[in-house]
Amino acid sequence: MNDPGNVVDIANVTQRFGDVCALDDVSLSVRRGEFLTLLGPSGYGKSTLLRAVAGFEVPTHGRVVIDDHDMAGVPPNRRPVNMVFQRPTLFPHLDVAGNVAFGLRLSKVKSAEVARRVAEVLSLVRLDGYGRRRAHELSGGQQQRVALARALVNQPTVLLLDEPLSALDLRIRLEMEVELRRVHRESGATFIYVTHDQREALALSDRIAVLDRGTILQAGTPAEVFDEPRSPFVASFVGAANVIAAEADGQGGIIIGGQKLPAGMAGSVSTLSGQIWVVVRPQVASFTVEGGLVGRVSDVAFRGIGHEYEVTLDGLDRPVKVETASETAKSFGERVQVTWPGRSVRILPRGGPDD
Ligand SMILES: Nc1ncnc2c1ncn2[C@@H]1O[C@H](COP(=O)(O)OP(=O)(O)OP(=O)(O)O)[C@@H](O)[C@H]1O
Ligand SMILES: [Mg+2]
Repeated sequence: MNDPGNVVDIANVTQRFGDVCALDDVSLSVRRGEFLTLLGPSGYGKSTLLRAVAGFEVPTHGRVVIDDHDMAGVPPNRRPVNMVFQRPTLFPHLDVAGNVAFGLRLSKVKSAEVARRVAEVLSLVRLDGYGRRRAHELSGGQQQRVALARALVNQPTVLLLDEPLSALDLRIRLEMEVELRRVHRESGATFIYVTHDQREALALSDRIAVLDRGTILQAGTPAEVFDEPRSPFVASFVGAANVIAAEADGQGGIIIGGQKLPAGMAGSVSTLSGQIWVVVRPQVASFTVEGGLVGRVSDVAFRGIGHEYEVTLDGLDRPVKVETASETAKSFGERVQVTWPGRSVRILPRGGPDD
């Protein structure tokens, strides 16, 4: 029996395309009314999972259940879902109202009802008064709002959104994020959203599922995924954290690139020994005159408020990122000491198959 709070149950879905295994035994449940984001780098199976829910792909194994109905053999147009794509695909010969009304007309909804619902949904996406415009008379952001209105007008149980903002420039994207949050709240629909942008995922979602090459590594609230990453991949991809290779001696001592980590920078790690990852965010790292890890500045970028540095610590190949809010800058090539508070450090075991 499925949990009645779940509207979508994805159970053990595997999707192969020839030799490519795009999804490897993925299971995920989405709760009614939830804003769930699939987050992961390019080519890691996000669209494939969305398309399996929409019915555009037939999984090699596993099943998709929506509203307690097994979707095996159910074509896309008979599923209680709609999809919004990266680029809005509006009919050029129809105006905005005609585009939004298209699906309703196909389902023979009465014209007074069509007019009422089109007006309602255009108002929801803040396009009142735009009904007579053609697609080419709209900005990219407005076109995407029309696509959103068209997907919402027949009140799907689940709305699937595949990188709907990625073709827009940053300013419009930020505006549209606010709109999407509001539309999600006001429509009451369940949103499954795909992005490779961790900032967007954190800003929008009730829950994030992080995909790594066809498997879900971790699913949780933005705060859980950001603050408590369970793997180096999640730490670096979601939190943009430094993931630093280190050794623990089992007595509380940690060695990074041959340097002993000062006790105050280590957190509580006395039980681990052997190879570990030290995970620390650039925003909590800073410079000190003594008692830090020694290295050299290998990159400096001005960030308006403060600077973003890369510091190559002695004995390490990969630089560590340090973000500071201070006005005084370190210069390229300068010898520096890096520090961070021990309580902001996470330690993960190293030497797994993905390391
Ligand atoms: N129809 C197909 N035939 C063959 N291979 C496919 C097909 N669709 C997807 N793939 C492959 O499956 C893998 C996952 O693709 P998918 O489109 O799901 O990735 P994605 O995470 O959405 O990436 P992006 O962020 O670039 O959109 C990729 O290696 C891709 O090349
Ligand atoms: Mg994709």
